[in-house]
Amino acid sequence: MEEALRQQALQRSRKALDLMARSQLDADEQQAVVDDCRINFERYVNPGILEYRKSCSTDYTAVEWRDEGNVFYDIHGKQFIDCLGGYGIYMLGHRHPTVVKAVTDQLQHQALHSQELLDPMRGYASELLAMLTPGDLRYTFFCNSGTEANEGALKLAKLHGKRKKANHTNGIISCLRGFHGKSFGSLSITGKSAWREPFYPLAPNVRFVPYGDADALDKELDICDTIGLDIAAFVAEPVQGEAGAHVPPDDYFPKVREICDKWGVLFIADEVQTGMGRTGTLWGIDHWDVTPDIMTMGKALGGAVIPVGCFISTPEIFEPFMENPYLHTTTFGGNPMATSAVIGALHATLEEDIPGQAAAKGAWLRERFLELQGKYPELLEEVRGLGLLIGLEYCSEAAGYAVATGLFGEGVLTGGTLFSAKTFRIEPPATLTQHEMDEIVARLDRVMGHVQEEVRAGRIAAE
Ligand SMILES: Cc1ncc(COP(=O)(O)O)c(C=O)c1O
Repeated sequence: MEEALRQQALQRSRKALDLMARSQLDADEQQAVVDDCRINFERYVNPGILEYRKSCSTDYTAVEWRDEGNVFYDIHGKQFIDCLGGYGIYMLGHRHPTVVKAVTDQLQHQALHSQELLDPMRGYASELLAMLTPGDLRYTFFCNSGTEANEGALKLAKLHGKRKKANHTNGIISCLRGFHGKSFGSLSITGKSAWREPFYPLAPNVRFVPYGDADALDKELDICDTIGLDIAAFVAEPVQGEAGAHVPPDDYFPKVREICDKWGVLFIADEVQTGMGRTGTLWGIDHWDVTPDIMTMGKALGGAVIPVGCFISTPEIFEPFMENPYLHTTTFGGNPMATSAVIGALHATLEEDIPGQAAAKGAWLRERFLELQGKYPELLEEVRGLGLLIGLEYCSEAAGYAVATGLFGEGVLTGGTLFSAKTFRIEPPATLTQHEMDEIVARLDRVMGHVQEEVRAGRIAAE
């Protein structure tokens, strides 16, 4: 390496290290970070991200810098109430003290693991999950994200299929509009063309049924049986998150359980988004008292401090991984940073009754949103959801964008996205205060009033 290049790289990394060590910057320094950030994204991250921000934000150069509780601040100090919750990670709010303490305490003596000796925090975290998940779910494999959790669950289900029948075709049935991640296996069971089409062909023998329709699942399993396609597992989210907070009929999951048992098919519950209290119970599937065969988790599992995912299953189904624990591994899976965060997150979740808070605050917010629907009926078509996984469906994509953008300007962040702009999600932390909830509703009311006028004047498309 040339000495000049080495010096230049050292100077850059020193600058970033210095910045990390500081929370307060003067106005010139703040602007310098914004400029650096914009240029670095343009040149080295992905200029497409900046283009996307331009279309969905009133200030696409907003750079995040600091967070606490249920709010975060951009580098200039503008406060945002977090109604996006990092797409579902901030159940406990930002930098919850119990989780931060767990992780920093652990960091004082060990960060990552040898992968040869036994790591005790992985044991404690697994024990807690076995205690807190339904039925006989007991053995946990830790990984680093939700999509990896689903990859592992699919592999485990396929091993189970092969165990029952050597030439098992190991098909999977998933749900239309279900979202399970973007790595190859998880994408193959994700039911939305926008994410799938560019990558065809995906994994074989994956079939899709409408979400919430148990008879359709039964019929599809009958078809698969008739054509000789053995199905290893059916995968579903307890509430469809990315699809826009779709809650299934009350009898859906009990029927799913019966149908899976009837056909000898495993039921995988993807709790990546619905877990850790999001929908008002610790796990989404708890609403219906149903025990899945495999459950996958991620997002809020690490208390919004350390990324972590996992899947958990019964001793019987997990057996192939016991016979050969190296059949499925990942370098960082179950590391002490991640598992100390899981322990801290579960502790805080239980101690503060996060599911109960999500249920009560979600019900309160949904009532207020329904009142707003009554006030602006042409604009807001539907209010859906369970607990703090709420979807607001607007009359048009343009109107949905306009409301999300208006809220951004008002200091409330929501999840308006490029592909489902008509519906945006309200997924705040369960630790929201009453004052913050009042503010969210008041600001939404203001923005909707303005967008309604624009729609009426024909400046924003109504359909
Ligand atoms: C239900 C569900 N499963 C899986 C995933 C993928 O998780 P990750 O983005 O951590 O890979 C998501 C992400 O949104 C999700 O909502």
